[in-house]
Amino acid sequence: MVIQIEDLVVMLKEYEILHGISLNIPEGKTFVILGQSGSGKTVLLKTLLGLIQPYKGKLVIFGQDMFKIKDDNLFDIRRKTGMVFQSSALFDSMSVWENVGFFLLEHSDLSEGEIRKQAENVLMAVGLEGIADKMPEELSGGMKKRVGIARALISKPQLLLYDEPTAGLDVLISSSIIKLMKKIHTEFSTTELIVTHDLAIARNLANDIAVIHEGKILAVGRWEDLKNSKIEFVRYFLNIGEYYENKNI
Ligand SMILES: Nc1ncnc2c1ncn2[C@@H]1O[C@H](COP(=O)(O)OP(=O)(O)OP(=O)(O)O)[C@@H](O)[C@H]1O
Ligand SMILES: [Mg+2]
Repeated sequence: MVIQIEDLVVMLKEYEILHGISLNIPEGKTFVILGQSGSGKTVLLKTLLGLIQPYKGKLVIFGQDMFKIKDDNLFDIRRKTGMVFQSSALFDSMSVWENVGFFLLEHSDLSEGEIRKQAENVLMAVGLEGIADKMPEELSGGMKKRVGIARALISKPQLLLYDEPTAGLDVLISSSIIKLMKKIHTEFSTTELIVTHDLAIARNLANDIAVIHEGKILAVGRWEDLKNSKIEFVRYFLNIGEYYENKNI
């Protein structure tokens, strides 16, 4: 298992946000956590990255216990993990290649020329050529997402965490991002953990899906199983999309 989570409780200020989450994320698979806005998806990802300190439970990533982790080991986990942020989170004052190469500029002895070359290679892998010198403000939302994905790929991660990779994009651009994520999974043999409310991602990319609701995991399984779940909310959530798709609205 790349990630083991057992009875994980996360508190922010005095509020309990995650109420005892248990999940195992196996190596080489694409795991989707599906949930509505405010269900705790981003908080969970930030906890995995060590940006939020968990309150109690068990959290083991790449064999490291996140409750006892030292800074060196945390850095090792971050190096093995690429994060694609919900808002793309590009630095406005840096060019595209500097954004993409940021990790290497900060944490390697490689020359700027070499880093730029590597940045251009991952930009090519995400379908963006010839934009290395552009600034983030010159990019469309879909391009920013791709740059965010390229930035996550630069450290050759084994694990990719995606936070709402299709949020705010139209259906066509969303489907091109989904295709790209599929291609990356095959090309780079990564393990993916994707948190989203986008049913198309769950249906098209997931090996397994966990449905999160109000800080709790309601069910884990494959798309077809969850569509017929005994739990009403799970069934409703997975089927409502098809209802709307059939209605074409
Ligand atoms: N820093 C914080 N302090 C207190 N509460 C927080 C903090 N960050 C998030 N929360 C609360 O935690 C809950 C889960 O938030 P989270 O951002 O994880 O939701 P989400 O599932 O990612 O939603 P979305 O799909 O809108 O991104 C929300 O009720 C939110 O108000
Ligand atoms: Mg979120």
